[in-house]
Amino acid sequence: MKDIVWGDVLSIGIDEIDEDHRKLVNIFNILNHSVKEGASPEYLAAVLEELINCTVWHFSHEERLMLKYGYEGTEEHKAEHQELIKSVKELQQKMLQADKLVADEDIESLERWLTGHIFSADMKFGSYLAQVM
Ligand SMILES: [Fe+2]
Repeated sequence: MKDIVWGDVLSIGIDEIDEDHRKLVNIFNILNHSVKEGASPEYLAAVLEELINCTVWHFSHEERLMLKYGYEGTEEHKAEHQELIKSVKELQQKMLQADKLVADEDIESLERWLTGHIFSADMKFGSYLAQVM
């Protein structure tokens, strides 16, 4: 699995959100390297814990901005956040039990999880914010 390379394609055009996303991408890349280097399941779960905590914090940040700027897609977007947290926590549990091969597949699904949400729901929210901020 290649690293996620931060670039304009991932930018939603709102600096304070891009900054959070950059951090999430960095932690993802640390996790990706750790899997390649054969780190222990405990270490991988710890990196994932950092990613989860950072994601929970970042989602609260986005949700506060949704309230502040009266975003009409708030409920739908928040539901997606809840689903994402649930699936990443399940992945964390699985990683604690899994061998390296399973973890490789899981890293790919995590990559889709992270970039997929940025490319769809966050881009939409970013276009809205760009008009109202
Ligand atoms: Fe989001």
